[in-house]
Amino acid sequence: MPLEKLKISSLRNISDANFGFSKGINVIAGPNASGKTSLLEAISLLCRGRSFRTSRVDQLIQHNHEQLLVVGEIRDDGRLHVLGYARENKKSIVKLDGSLLSRSTDLIALQALHVITPESHEILEQGPKMRRQYLDWGVFHVKPGYLACWQRYHRVLRQRNHVLRQGGGREAVQAWDKPLLDEATALHSHRLAYLESLTPALSQYGQLLLEMEVEFRYRPGWNQASESFAQQLRRDFAQDQERGFTQSGPHRADIHVTINGHSVRQILSRGQQKLLVCTMYLAQVASAPRPGILLIDDLPAELDPIRREKLISAAADTGAQLFVTATESNLLPVDQWKEKKVFHVEHGQFHEVV
Ligand SMILES: Nc1ncnc2c1ncn2[C@@H]1O[C@H](COP(=O)(O)OP(=O)(O)O)[C@@H](O)[C@H]1O
Ligand SMILES: [Mg+2]
Repeated sequence: MPLEKLKISSLRNISDANFGFSKGINVIAGPNASGKTSLLEAISLLCRGRSFRTSRVDQLIQHNHEQLLVVGEIRDDGRLHVLGYARENKKSIVKLDGSLLSRSTDLIALQALHVITPESHEILEQGPKMRRQYLDWGVFHVKPGYLACWQRYHRVLRQRNHVLRQGGGREAVQAWDKPLLDEATALHSHRLAYLESLTPALSQYGQLLLEMEVEFRYRPGWNQASESFAQQLRRDFAQDQERGFTQSGPHRADIHVTINGHSVRQILSRGQQKLLVCTMYLAQVASAPRPGILLIDDLPAELDPIRREKLISAAADTGAQLFVTATESNLLPVDQWKEKKVFHVEHGQFHEVV
């Protein structure tokens, strides 16, 4: 579902801008602080209802303005849809073809958006939360019903934790174990199946970009080697009671990323980290039922010319609509691609170059 047109009003340093995009590669080039990341943020607002740079959308409203507006035209099987996002008085309004979309997940389900920024290496370095999000959104775009399962699991988990916090006895706490185990089993099997489906693409892009074997080792959130979640839940009971929350379960899941069988922590250069993160996202894009949109902010950063070229062709080959930024367009070799547009930006003003 490519984004064909976009109109931005009063977003950061972009007062007014209109774009007609390529369904292939869109290059956005311009000096520092010209508005490149701001354009990508506008696309993120439109597709996710949020920015990838900050959780405070009001920061995106142009100084001395009351409202920001982003309107896009998205094509789906030949039909053109108009999607609009407005932020005013601390409220967001999202409309699809003139009708209000009240749930952000309805918006996210429309279009899979993947974002790679110079900060994305945090997914390798930080705690498991970002890796769980990578996994969960990936499953969601393949199986939209997964969201309801995820929500049910977390609802039961909150109830069990509530009883634990209130100092409830064994019977009151364990009344929640069966529903928790049922939802956990479903969640776990969706995640497993999804990770399995990612394996070939992960290996393919790992070889292509890093010339190494990239693998995921799934940690389901309990000690799988020695016991089932049901056993661990029973064994953890006294500690859960003492701490006032459920220590094990799919809410503690993680993905352990390995390269040639080794843990990736501390052995990779910045450039390799970036290529590994790109491997993870390209695998996700290529395994999705629909290719979606991929944003790569400051693609050339940390990469030599050969790796840049490899990354662009691998990304273009996924079939996703690409938006890539750079300080200069000659850092992005896109000559051989037919479906492309190049935009130059300065002080929030964009001009199409090709
Ligand atoms: N709310 C805002 N109103 C006006 N300008 C802003 C706002 N937020 C950020 N800016 C400015 O927008 C400019 C563009 O930023 P950015 O998109 O990050 O540039 P680039 O990615 O091209 O380096 C910066 O100069 C920044 O100071
Ligand atoms: Mg930027």
